Amino acid sequence: MSKDTLTITDNRTGKQYEIPIEHNAIRTADLRQIKTSVEDAGLVGYDPALTNTATCKSKITCIVGDKGILRYRGYPIEELAEKSNYLETAYLIVKGELPDRKHFEMWKQNVTIHSMVHENIKKFVDEFRYDAHPMGILVGTVGALSTFYPDAKDIFDLESRRLQTRRLIGKLPTLAAFAYRHSRGLPYVYPDNDLSYTGNFLSMLFKMTELKYQPNPVLERALDVLFILHADHEQNCSTNALRSVASSQVDAYSAVAAAVAALYGPLHGGANEAVIRMLMEIGSVKRIPEYIKKFKSGEGRLMGFGHRVYKNYDPRAKIIKRVADEVFQVTGRNPLIDIALELERIALEDDYFVSRKLYPNVDFYSGIIYQAMGFPVTMFPVLFAIPRTSGWMAQWAELVRDPEQKITRPRQIYIGEGARSYVPIAQRPQPDMREDAVSESI
Ligand code: CMC
Repeated sequence: MSKDTLTITDNRTGKQYEIPIEHNAIRTADLRQIKTSVEDAGLVGYDPALTNTATCKSKITCIVGDKGILRYRGYPIEELAEKSNYLETAYLIVKGELPDRKHFEMWKQNVTIHSMVHENIKKFVDEFRYDAHPMGILVGTVGALSTFYPDAKDIFDLESRRLQTRRLIGKLPTLAAFAYRHSRGLPYVYPDNDLSYTGNFLSMLFKMTELKYQPNPVLERALDVLFILHADHEQNCSTNALRSVASSQVDAYSAVAAAVAALYGPLHGGANEAVIRMLMEIGSVKRIPEYIKKFKSGEGRLMGFGHRVYKNYDPRAKIIKRVADEVFQVTGRNPLIDIALELERIALEDDYFVSRKLYPNVDFYSGIIYQAMGFPVTMFPVLFAIPRTSGWMAQWAELVRDPEQKITRPRQIYIGEGARSYVPIAQRPQPDMREDAVSESI
């Protein structure tokens, strides 16, 4: 008779344990009872980088990695990208259901009225160096928002959570645009709340002397689709950072600042920037085999390829390839696309990539579109952070409401020195004799 349990025999003691299986998972805390003696603290799970550990139960996003499936609240990403818009998708992610007309209008209004930022934020952005990376500015300014909204500390109050969610989704494009304008030495452009979410963002970025900025509808829609594709992606590095930081019960701005910092890295949201730098370095289709050889030998990585969960084509990359064609009709073709297409073709026929199931991910083609639209490469991770804010806020609210969650506090396997006595500095060995031991830890 089948039973939803796991029987473990500890060969050290010969004892047997029966552990429940729920949702195809065991609770690693159940391993703690497995001991060799009463003093033994019990067995722990060792999982550096959490490659096979679920840290929460979630109802937000579902990825079926080996089939290349992505759904938000049950809706396939392909349908949302085709039929929805970013703000509606953000509502779906945050609230769990698609809105009716009345609720959608209210949501749009509630997010849009928060697009302004305190004037002091402008001064704050001004003080960054002229060449500051916009993602660094974003980490700083999002974190700084917590000082403007001390009410955000009330994380268990539903109305407060709703307010911080609207504020953050509303303000992120403004902070991002200010970071960009600062890097260009251009005056900041205030939000135009008559425009759509992405239309207003384009206006804050690119408006010059015209009285009203008119976004190109194809580019506005393309950016909106890209925003839909980036809105959430379950327990990735930045969401895990957000959940971990938020588990200390800090306010949402501080937790989102941590998430933005995690997203900045080249293995995560910074990969879209790294892809363009890589394609520019390769420079021509002729040099691809040489680079493929390097990547296979471990000299660098083929950026924009591979994923912890997808062991198939990332469904977002497929949609982005289509969007690229639409954007190029307006902007002209970005020549890097030819290198990217050939790189993909060669990699997908190469046993190294095939056997490791390394396919293009969301970052492989998105940068090519952003570049064609006139964004500098340093803005690419910022373009990831803006839409991901709705996902982060949904994940944050889920964490705060989850009675099973506690402060995140993993265990370690200590492999350092045993107990030893302090030696006064005068009695320690000479520096040259100690160099090796010291340098190991820096
Ligand atoms: N190029 C060359 N080899 C690779 C790559 C790559 N892009 N990705 C993985 N591998 C190899 C890796 O060397 C390893 O080989 P071996 O088994 O011989 O040691 C094997 O494939 C498994 O890789 P892993 O590093 O254990 O896989 P992971 O799940 O820890 O890493 C990843 C996932 C996305 C960090 C990694 O694939 C990578 O570094 N890709 C390039 C950066 C990138 O595009 N990041 C964006 C991810 S998607 C959007 C997002 O999350 O922001």
